Amino acid sequence: MEKNVIVACDFNEKKELVEFLDKMEKADPNFYCKVGMELFYSGALKGFYPVDMIKDRGHKVFLDLKLKDIPNTVRNTVKVLAKSGVDMINVHADGGFQMMKQVVDSVNELYSDYAKEYECLANNHSYPAEALKDILQKNLQRPRPILLGVTVLTSMSEEELKKEIGVNRTPMEQVVALAKLCKKAGLDGVVCSPEEVMAVKEACGDDFITVTPGIRFLDSKKDDQTRIATPACANLLGSDYIVVGRPITKADDVVEAYTRCKKDFTEEVTNEIEIENAKRYMEDLKAKTKKNDDWIIIEPIQDIHSGIQKRK
Ligand code: C5P
Repeated sequence: MEKNVIVACDFNEKKELVEFLDKMEKADPNFYCKVGMELFYSGALKGFYPVDMIKDRGHKVFLDLKLKDIPNTVRNTVKVLAKSGVDMINVHADGGFQMMKQVVDSVNELYSDYAKEYECLANNHSYPAEALKDILQKNLQRPRPILLGVTVLTSMSEEELKKEIGVNRTPMEQVVALAKLCKKAGLDGVVCSPEEVMAVKEACGDDFITVTPGIRFLDSKKDDQTRIATPACANLLGSDYIVVGRPITKADDVVEAYTRCKKDFTEEVTNEIEIENAKRYMEDLKAKTKKNDDWIIIEPIQDIHSGIQKRK
């Protein structure tokens, strides 16, 4: 399974995006970009579809629009967006089982439409072979987008979840319950905080993808995020993808920040300070973990290393 850093390109001007891409491509010519609401809607207002530009420059795109509406609307929207060649797309898990199931069906339907269209053209012997090959590569041979469910936003604390939203579960319990629902509906994974990665993997299996925002270096500002971890800690916890915005986009040296992030997340963690930090993190996590009839999370973990073993 791929393990990668996804950079949140939260800009509202095309110019800012282009400047950022120009700089970042010096660090990694094919880095993974996240297009969220800010960039998507500001582009829509100005007649600019950022996904096309980013894909044309050779990057993968996570289209983070966190869709939630009645099943039919979300189904049709995902089908339209998937046609534009995005690599990852998400919907709110609390939109419910039917909504998520229809999303999965719509992407399957899209690929079966592609197959029918291809067959039809292939049977037309006057259709140019080159153009046919092109269609094959652009549509049928392109991997399906990874479909994710957004569980509990990483900016949300336990108190907010209970008092404001009225959810009488801890974020951990709520994330695991929603992750199970996503899996049942056929999604490929979830967006959750690094805190919940091990619990989600425990409940849904190691190949169920976890994408984790809420990433901060030890020395960076928390901003509005509450359930956070460092890239190294997210690595040790077993995240498949981390989503990083401001620690990179607002850094004095974006290339340095990205390179550090990528190294910490994808390579073996040897830095003692990071290992100590991860051990403390794990202890806090153990304290938050509890058992009930519905789910049993994280067996007692003696130290961070046995935790890592468990994830492998
Ligand atoms: O700047 P920062 O690193 O906090 O950016 C995190 C990005 O991840 C933002 O674009 C935000 O919309 C997104 N995100 C999140 N929490 C989620 C899902 C997505 O922070 N649960």
